[in-house]
Amino acid sequence: MTTDSLPRHIAIIMDGNGRWARARHLPRLAGHQAGAKAVERTIQAAQKKGIAFLTLYAFSTENWSRPKEEIDGLMNLLSQTLTKYTRQAAKENLRLWVSGEREPLPPAILTQVDEAVAQTATHTGLTVNLALNYGAQQEIVHAANAAYAAGEKKLTPETLRNYFYHPDLPDPELIIRTSGEERLSNFLLWQAAYSEFYFTSVLWPDFNETELDKALAAYATRTRRFGGI
Ligand code: FPP
Repeated sequence: MTTDSLPRHIAIIMDGNGRWARARHLPRLAGHQAGAKAVERTIQAAQKKGIAFLTLYAFSTENWSRPKEEIDGLMNLLSQTLTKYTRQAAKENLRLWVSGEREPLPPAILTQVDEAVAQTATHTGLTVNLALNYGAQQEIVHAANAAYAAGEKKLTPETLRNYFYHPDLPDPELIIRTSGEERLSNFLLWQAAYSEFYFTSVLWPDFNETELDKALAAYATRTRRFGGI
């Protein structure tokens, strides 16, 4: 695969943990645990392929409506994964970024996230951008409010972008959604303007390097015209 046919930034809507668990008569949390393992596999595979940015939709602003037990379980899993990666990060050269609103994330998670982001800030390998308490409409409103507070008088798409969670994050060339659902669910609405989409019926806990390869092969066949001819 040439560098051009390889996306610089892949963003993933990791869907299907609940259905994966239900099919095995397991609690939903078991699906999320298996999903966390798929996260690790996917990070490794992306590193191996030389992908620069990987955005993972870990928790949306709408996920707060889930049962408290499930939310607590997801936060625990996140905390465990952060602990593991912060420990390994120097060796792996991974950089962690987070996109989303801080409120109402638990203070302990915020502290852990802040530490992981600070500890990995100078790393030059894969950037894993966790979309955590993320909603794209909220990001756009956040940017508009920040621009207003900064005294911007007349916004353009380029100037508004300066107020996004990560102005330096390139738009994803490829967005993957697992589990057969085909919608964006308030994910990267602005940044997806010219993204290629890859939908697969594979449930997130079953996602692995082979599935990533299939998505990359599909991407390599796409012709990207950006509105031109
Ligand atoms: C969607 O599946 C998945 C989520 C809402 C959370 C994603 C979380 C993980 C992959 C595990 C932990 C993450 C990290 C970064 C360690 P769903 O529950 O909506 O599945 P369903 O549609 O089949 O019910």
